[in-house]
Amino acid sequence: MAERLLRLADVAKPGRLRDPTRTVFAMCGIVGYAGPKSAVDLVVEGLRRLEYRGYDSAGVSVVADGELSVAKRAGKLVNLEKELAETPLPVSGLAIGHTRWATHGGPTDVNAHPHRSSNGRVAVVHNGIIENFAVLRAELAEAGITPVSATDTEIAAQLLGLEVAKGGDLTGALRTVCNRLEGAFTLVAVDCEQPDTVVAARRNSPLVVGLGDGENFLASDVAAFIGHTREAVELGQDQIVTITATTFEVETFTGEPATVRPYHVSWDLSAAEKGGFDWFMRKEIYEQPKAVADTLLGRQDESGALRLDELRIAPEELRAVDKIVVIACGTSFYAGMVAKYAIEHWTRVPCEVELASEFRYRDPIVGPTTLVVTISQSGETADTLMAIRHAREQKARVLAICNTNGSTIPRESDAVIYTHAGPEIGVASTKGFLTQLVACYLLALYLAQVRGTKFGDEIALLIEELEKIPAAIERQLADMDGVLQLASDFAESPSVLFLGRHVGYPVALEGALKLKELAYIHAEGFAAGELKHGPIALIEDQLPVFVVMPPPGRDLVHEKVISNIAEIRARGARTIVLAEEDDLDAVRHADVVIALPKVPTLLQPLVAIVPLQVFACELATRKGHDVDQPRNLAKSVTVE
Ligand code: F6R
Repeated sequence: MAERLLRLADVAKPGRLRDPTRTVFAMCGIVGYAGPKSAVDLVVEGLRRLEYRGYDSAGVSVVADGELSVAKRAGKLVNLEKELAETPLPVSGLAIGHTRWATHGGPTDVNAHPHRSSNGRVAVVHNGIIENFAVLRAELAEAGITPVSATDTEIAAQLLGLEVAKGGDLTGALRTVCNRLEGAFTLVAVDCEQPDTVVAARRNSPLVVGLGDGENFLASDVAAFIGHTREAVELGQDQIVTITATTFEVETFTGEPATVRPYHVSWDLSAAEKGGFDWFMRKEIYEQPKAVADTLLGRQDESGALRLDELRIAPEELRAVDKIVVIACGTSFYAGMVAKYAIEHWTRVPCEVELASEFRYRDPIVGPTTLVVTISQSGETADTLMAIRHAREQKARVLAICNTNGSTIPRESDAVIYTHAGPEIGVASTKGFLTQLVACYLLALYLAQVRGTKFGDEIALLIEELEKIPAAIERQLADMDGVLQLASDFAESPSVLFLGRHVGYPVALEGALKLKELAYIHAEGFAAGELKHGPIALIEDQLPVFVVMPPPGRDLVHEKVISNIAEIRARGARTIVLAEEDDLDAVRHADVVIALPKVPTLLQPLVAIVPLQVFACELATRKGHDVDQPRNLAKSVTVE
């Protein structure tokens, strides 16, 4: 057994190759509370704000009068709320709660968290995957303990129960247990014999502390407690925090006091609520003008030169960079694809874009003169985090573009450019994507400034163009009737294609992704130039094909895409062309035109994606889907 444990420990080390066939996802939302108010109400309120992280079961546990009580239900949070209304838990000022996205064990009442130890001492909630749970489960069996659930979490609860029974405090017991676990986890625990204390530990999975007035919170995301306090503390890797109503203490997994970084959350409760919209996603689409403007704010000094305050890499080092590698997943990867066009065009530095999940498994060539740029809205995506660790082991400098202050990815990077999208709660990324694009443009321009590949006045002109984007999106959003009509026209289409060229290609991919994840229909994005190399075989009568049109005059690319439109129409498909407002060629050739504001070619993704987001949101709404919580998905993918 020892040998097996050793091998598991080895493969779990950052940068080491792990079984690439094993892809598991674990997201989940976690809340803990210690204070004078009704802990159950506060924890359930927090879970409601974290439901975007997982929504297949939920549960809470309280400590009252020296006893642990647990309520948990499969299905969305509303099932748990119904249960609590029918059979209330005892009144208590101490509770933990969880909203789950199933990994080990299906979404049943029994597998829902919190999990209790057989001796009734502790209850535990967990986000992540305990990779050596099978070994530990066998060990528990030898000790005569048979878990009631199929989860890895219960194994941690059982171990913790045994550990506290030895007589130490909950913090020490959790530290001992954590040192035996492999994988990614945030664990939050209560012990009925320590009725004023909640303890939590984190490794490779998010955890923040909310510091209130006479009350303290623990959560996967500040959204859980933002209605009560905006003062937060981010926890580092392999740290344990112990909270009571009035104290918090942080130590490492080896028991030494840890240094932590307190911060003030820059947004408030209203940003975490729907504000009259039917979906968070729709609200977030309409917040894009502000999100773009906020991300641009304060980026120039008095002379007009670009200034990126959090970018802690010296200009000499940036001048020595000979290759840039952009790494990200999903929508953020598509933002990275756009970044490549801008970086290479403005700086002439070779730039590769790579899926984070592929990066470290193919022995990539990076070194001290490589700048690795990672893009992540959540700052917690496991694939991206592992790629960062691999790049840093190879001595590359890592710069993170991230929307979440206090998250792991910026903390483990050399430098960061924060996007200022505010909280993104809809599972499908919208304002996250737009602000990532803005950050990529700013980075590319900054590199051009530092390396002298663009004159200051050229950079200033491009910044002026970026500054016009919020108003342009505002105008677009004020006139979406045509797009809403298209969603109604195509609601029953079994398949939709998206074509684009140059920076329109990542837009096509992102448009297709939005439709897949929200409307659950087959959607593919292609590079328009590839049409004749295969995808044209998919074209058939009445198939909707969205085409992102390059602005007229862009080399010969515009004319080539016009030819693609003709080829598609000749085969009976319907073309919906997103084209600059005075692109008369597009009007002549398309079945339907969606007019885009006139912007510089490289910036076109900022306006071209907006109608595609609205289209996907509306079509999914018409199909009766839950737009904010699409099936099988969760917001942050915190385990590989
Ligand atoms: C799609 C979407 C995902 C994320 C991806 C990366 O709408 O949201 O594809 O873009 O999981 O997430 P972050 O940016 O948090 O690393």
